[in-house]
Amino acid sequence: MDIIVAVDEKWGIGRDGELLKRISADMKRFRAMTTGNVLVMGRKTLESFPGGKPLPNRVNVVLTANRAYPAEGIVLCHDIGELPRALAPYGDKQIFVAGGGSIYAQLLPLCEKAYVTRIYDAFPADTYFPDLDSHEDWCLTEKGEMQEENGVRFSFDVYEKKA
Ligand SMILES: NC(=O)c1ccc[n+]([C@@H]2O[C@H](COP(=O)([O-])OP(=O)(O)OC[C@H]3O[C@@H](n4cnc5c(N)ncnc54)[C@H](OP(=O)(O)O)[C@@H]3O)[C@@H](O)[C@H]2O)c1
Repeated sequence: MDIIVAVDEKWGIGRDGELLKRISADMKRFRAMTTGNVLVMGRKTLESFPGGKPLPNRVNVVLTANRAYPAEGIVLCHDIGELPRALAPYGDKQIFVAGGGSIYAQLLPLCEKAYVTRIYDAFPADTYFPDLDSHEDWCLTEKGEMQEENGVRFSFDVYEKKA
């Protein structure tokens, strides 16, 4: 399983149930990388998508403790222990952990690689990703070139779990 996330300079990822910043180049890359593959996400992240609906052309695996949650268009999981069985049919696909904060924190130890869009600014946030720059198990393996969109600077970086 790999992580895909956009963070600001303080590893902030969201506020009030929304992303901190929308960068269209990042959205486009997210779509390109995840289409045809599998997303694993928390119920709040699903509900932050347009119309609260799963993203098209991807398998959307959603974690919720609510056993009555409507399962239309998604694969439901009621705890982390259920994930291997839920993901078993998709062994030929790439599995992306797509947030939010609670799911990243729980699944980081099970992941090998993190595709991190680094935004060079700091925003008020209420949800954070673990700081991989000071994480003893992770290291930066690819530093993307600096890009800019509407005055916002960002890079597509890759972190990997140390061997
Ligand atoms: N920057 C990024 O790349 C990025 C990506 C994704 C999301 N985000 C942001 O992150 C924020 C949302 O993150 P969040 O931490 O508040 O919510 P979240 O992780 O998306 O969802 C939390 C919910 O997931 C369910 N859940 C979590 N752990 C579970 C477990 N072990 N078993 C069963 N269900 C479990 C629970 O649902 P129930 O309450 O239904 O039980 C919980 O309330 C938003 O601001 C969003 O925009 C940012």
